[in-house]
Amino acid sequence: MLELNAVNSGYGETQVLYGMNVTAQPGRVLAILGRNGAGKSTTLKTIMGLLPTKSGTITFDGAPIAKRPFDIAKSGIAYVPETRDIFPSLSVRENLEIASKRFGDGAWTIERVIDLFPRLGERLDNGGMQLSGGEQQMLAIARALLMN
Ligand SMILES: Nc1ncnc2c1ncn2[C@@H]1O[C@H](COP(=O)(O)OP(=O)(O)OP(=O)(O)O)[C@@H](O)[C@H]1O
Ligand SMILES: [Mg+2]
Repeated sequence: MLELNAVNSGYGETQVLYGMNVTAQPGRVLAILGRNGAGKSTTLKTIMGLLPTKSGTITFDGAPIAKRPFDIAKSGIAYVPETRDIFPSLSVRENLEIASKRFGDGAWTIERVIDLFPRLGERLDNGGMQLSGGEQQMLAIARALLMN
């Protein structure tokens, strides 16, 4: 379970999140809705350690969440950035391999993500830049799944 309790966060002196409370339970899907600029991405960046929490607490499975994005990823939280951030100079296959090598040994394999997104399987040798927006989105989601 991932829990945000009274989290304040933002960019430098600009505060965006005021007392944010969120509980994400295992096996459930949680959606956060809001107008443009409301703070959805800021919430995710704060959970992922890309922005510092000014105050409040974030816990994951009952313990305080790690501080560094790398450790947070290692603890089992994967982030699909709005900007996708796939590696443009690497092929689809290489983008997938990087994710699976780092945090592999779980339920998700490259074969399994290709089953989910056959389109990626047809484009394994395409460069990261040679993909449509939706294909890049599939790759960003596939990469997150491969981190298990
Ligand atoms: N790097 C930044 N520096 C300063 N302010 C920022 C930065 N990124 C976002 N903001 C501001 O923080 C507020 C929340 O932005 P955020 O990206 O969280 O919105 P969002 O809910 O994800 O919106 P959208 O639906 O458009 O993606 C906005 O007012 C935005 O202008
Ligand atoms: Mg956003």
